[in-house]
Amino acid sequence: MNTPSDHNTLDSLRQRLTAVAQLDASALDAEEIAVLGRKAGELTSQLKALAKLSIEEKRTVGAALNAIKLEFEAAFAARRAELTRGANAAASRDLDLSLPGRDTWTGTRHPVSIVIDEIVAIFRELGFAVALGPDIENEERNFFALNFPPDHPALDMHDTLYLEARGSQGEPLLLRTHTSPVQVRVMRDGPPPYRVVIPGLAYRNDPFDASHAPAFSQIEGLAVDEGVTFVDLKATLSHFAHRVFGESVKVRFRPSFFPFTEPSAEMDVSCTICGGSGCAACKGTGWLEILGCGMVHEQVLKNCGVDPEKYTGFAFGMGPARIAMLRYGLPDIRLLYGGDVRFLRQFGEIGQ
Ligand code: PHE
Repeated sequence: MNTPSDHNTLDSLRQRLTAVAQLDASALDAEEIAVLGRKAGELTSQLKALAKLSIEEKRTVGAALNAIKLEFEAAFAARRAELTRGANAAASRDLDLSLPGRDTWTGTRHPVSIVIDEIVAIFRELGFAVALGPDIENEERNFFALNFPPDHPALDMHDTLYLEARGSQGEPLLLRTHTSPVQVRVMRDGPPPYRVVIPGLAYRNDPFDASHAPAFSQIEGLAVDEGVTFVDLKATLSHFAHRVFGESVKVRFRPSFFPFTEPSAEMDVSCTICGGSGCAACKGTGWLEILGCGMVHEQVLKNCGVDPEKYTGFAFGMGPARIAMLRYGLPDIRLLYGGDVRFLRQFGEIGQ
């Protein structure tokens, strides 16, 4: 190593000092460490080596080294500031002020969600609470507790999506084909009375076409108490229909069949498009089918530990997507469940 008193040492340090102004960012960092680094920096080592010199030399050479150290510190700081300014200037040169602004993405609520929230709110006003259940069910809750006979065609693989996984008792598991198994869960969970609405997804092995989706929303309802009659069913569901479709719609109940209700009915409202005179939307009938309903079957109450001598109740189930289609005049359910945001975002901003 050259000694600090050596002229070559000071000369070479001066040369390095003048080169600092040309260094790029990473070379600048490396050079700063190489010169000023506390462990092995060139200047640091030279300053340490001063100890070996005579008092006289220490004074002159020490002063020269300290002066050059200050110059190095100033040079590194100046070059660093210059590089930062340059980077900022380059960034602003790359900013093209003539480009069109970028659209900010605002999420919108899905039309089916809007309808679900509205329907749930109507029933909450009537004293119904919200209940939920899992999408994966067993056959017992999805079918048998609901009084489906073991040979019912709905149990066929053809209609029901079974899972490979088995339940805790080794029983087959499936994707619930309706939200009705949550009725069973609610009734088994505690004593009556029950007044619940149950929004959730249901799954069927259907092709995805204009009127079917393999996964779709349902809203289930259940009201069980002492003395609940078909009059309560009609009054509650008529009120609901008038709230959703307007006071002027007519409502009718047609006899129907479900294994878990007796008697069973389907509720229609007068066609919201033609007002009841007959059009394509109502297939000329003047009526639109809205939901299935009925008085909870005695056997279902028994299967769920509810005494049918003491309690009666009604249940209903509907598809909010169908209601959204009627409400918004949509011809195809795939518009709702197809996931095309250009279509879906027309229905309202968040909070609307
Ligand atoms: N679970 C029935 C369906 O999916 C609807 C329904 C629910 C009917 C409750 C009556 C009572 O079609």
